[in-house]
Amino acid sequence: MYLLPHWLAVSCFLLLAHQEALAAPDSSLPRSIPLLRRAPPQRNATEVSAWLKQQKDLLVAKYHGRSGQQKRSNGMNLLTNQGADTSFYGSIAVGTPPVAYNVILDTGSSDLWLAASDGLSSFNDGIAKFDSSASSTFKDLNTPFSITYGSGAARGTLGQDVVRMAGFELNPQIFAVVTQESGVLTAPVSGLMGMGFQTIASSGATPFWEALASNNGTLDQPLMAFQLTRFLDVQSAQELEPGGTFSLGAVNTSLFTGDIDYQDIPDGQEGFWLQELTGLNVNGNSVTLPSGSDSYGAIDTGTTLVSGPEDVVAALYAQIPNSQALTGQNQGFYQYPCATTVNVTMRFGSSTISWPISNADFLVGQGTTPDMCVGAFFSIGQTGGSAPPWIIGDTFLKNVYSVFRAQPPSVGFAQLSETATAMNGVTGPAPSPTIGSVATVEATDGTIGASATDRASTPTSSSSNAAVSRSQVSAWLFWGVVSAGLLL
Ligand SMILES: *[C@@H]1O[C@H](CO)[C@@H](O)[C@H](O)[C@H]1NC(C)=O
Ligand SMILES: *[C@@H]1O[C@H](CO)[C@@H](O)[C@H](O)[C@H]1NC(C)=O
Ligand SMILES: *[C@@H]1O[C@H](CO)[C@@H](O)[C@H](O)[C@H]1NC(C)=O
Ligand SMILES: *[C@@H]1O[C@H](CO)[C@@H](O)[C@H](O)[C@H]1NC(C)=O
Repeated sequence: MYLLPHWLAVSCFLLLAHQEALAAPDSSLPRSIPLLRRAPPQRNATEVSAWLKQQKDLLVAKYHGRSGQQKRSNGMNLLTNQGADTSFYGSIAVGTPPVAYNVILDTGSSDLWLAASDGLSSFNDGIAKFDSSASSTFKDLNTPFSITYGSGAARGTLGQDVVRMAGFELNPQIFAVVTQESGVLTAPVSGLMGMGFQTIASSGATPFWEALASNNGTLDQPLMAFQLTRFLDVQSAQELEPGGTFSLGAVNTSLFTGDIDYQDIPDGQEGFWLQELTGLNVNGNSVTLPSGSDSYGAIDTGTTLVSGPEDVVAALYAQIPNSQALTGQNQGFYQYPCATTVNVTMRFGSSTISWPISNADFLVGQGTTPDMCVGAFFSIGQTGGSAPPWIIGDTFLKNVYSVFRAQPPSVGFAQLSETATAMNGVTGPAPSPTIGSVATVEATDGTIGASATDRASTPTSSSSNAAVSRSQVSAWLFWGVVSAGLLL
C-alpha cells in the first residue's frame, strides 16, 4: 500500500509527458522523402508550393498535431497461436536499440511485463529476456511490482523505456521487469501485454493501447480488434501456428462481414472489458441466467477457455445428455459423450444476436474414457476479489471478430469473413517480428524451445479428433483472472 503516493507522482509525470510521448506510426516517418537531392530538378511555382506543403505535413505528422492538424493512423500485428489455441501472442519492440519480444496480448489484465535477464530469473530455458543494461533509454523506477493471475504470478520492479507495437511508439511506457514468476511463461513468450483499462493495472501505469487511444488524434478510431485462428481440431498442428490479426486504431474490414454489434460496458465500469451475459443456449435450450452484475463477464483474449458460476455451468451441462462433473484436479470441468455435437450460443447486453461457439472449440480434449470429451466451459467456484463471475476467453473469441472500443466504452462482435475463417487450421510458419532485432536467447545446450515442445502435445488420442491429455486440461491458461490492485 505504501506504493500509492509514489504512484500518484509517477502518474502525474506521465500525464505531463503524455503529449510528447506519442510518436506517429513508423509508416508516417519521412523516410522516403527526398530532403537531400544532389541536383534538385527545376520546379515551377505549383510544384514548389506542393512540395512545401508536403514538407509541412510531414513535420506536423512527425511532431504530432502541434499545429492542430493531427495525423491519425492505425496499425496491425500478426499473431501467433501457441499450443493449439492455448494462447495468442504478438510482438513488441522495447528499448534503444529496439529488441523484439513476444508477449501474450491479454485484454483481461492491464500490466505490461517482461522476463528480466538478471541472475534472479527462474524462467524456463529458451525465453528471451529483457536486459535493461543493453537499452540506453531504460530508466529504473525502483518500484516493486507484483501481480497474480489465474495461472500464476509475476513479481519484479518497474521501469520505463521506449515501447513499439503495431507501428506505434510510446516513450516512455512503464512496464515491469520480472525476476520471479510461477508457471506462466512458455518459450518463446517473454511476457505479457495487458490490454484492459488502467483502472485495474497493478502497476498503476496506463496500458500502451489506452495511452494511444486517449490521446486525441493518434488512432483513427479509439479501438483495437482481434481475429483469432483455430487449431484445436487439427491433428497436424505444431506448437506455433499463425494466430490471426491484431489491429490497433481501425478494424480490418477484410476479416468480418456485416455490422459490428457494439454493446456498452455496463455502468461505465471500465477496467475489464465487461459485458453482461444476457443469453446462453445449448442445442436450442436456454440456460437461466441471473441479471445484472451476477452475469458480468470479462471478454478476455488472454484466457483459453470460458469459466462461469458453478450453478450456471452445471445447468449448461445438464442440457447435454450423459454429461458428468470431473473430480480431483479437474474439479469444475465436465465431460460428455464425444459423439454429441454441442452448439452453445452467447448473447450480450441488449443485443438480439446470439453468437455460436463451434463444436470444435467446445470440445477441448479427451475425458476419463475415450468416448467422453471435456467441454470448454468450467467453473472455478467463487471468483472472489474483483474478478467478474464470467471469464470469456478464446473458446468464444475464435468464433467472432472482436472489437474493444474505448469511446464509447464497449465491446463489439461481428461475423468472421470467409477470408478470416479460411485461416483456421492452415498450418504455416509463425509470423516474425517486424520491428526490432530478435532478442538473443541464452545458449542452453540445445534446449532452446524445449519447454515449448513439451506443450506441443496437441492431439494424442485415438478416436477423438481433438484430444489433449487430461493433465493438460489443468494447464489451460486463464491470464485474465487477476487479483487487481497493489498486492503489497
Ligand atoms: C508545373 O509543372 C507541372 C508538371 O511538372 C505542370 O503540370 C504544371 O502545369 C506546371 N505549372 C506551371 C504553372 O507551369
Ligand atoms: C477529444 O476530442 C473530443 C471531441 O472531438 C472531446 O470531446 C474530448 O474532450 C477530447 N479529449 C481530450 C482528452 O482532449
Ligand atoms: C487485414 O488482415 C489481413 C490478414 O491478416 C492482412 O493481410 C491485412 O494486411 C490486414 N489489413 C490491414 C489494412 O491491416
Ligand atoms: C446453434 O444454435 C442456434 C440457435 O440456438 C442456431 O441459430 C444455429 O444455427 C445453431 N448452429 C448449429 C451449427 O447448429
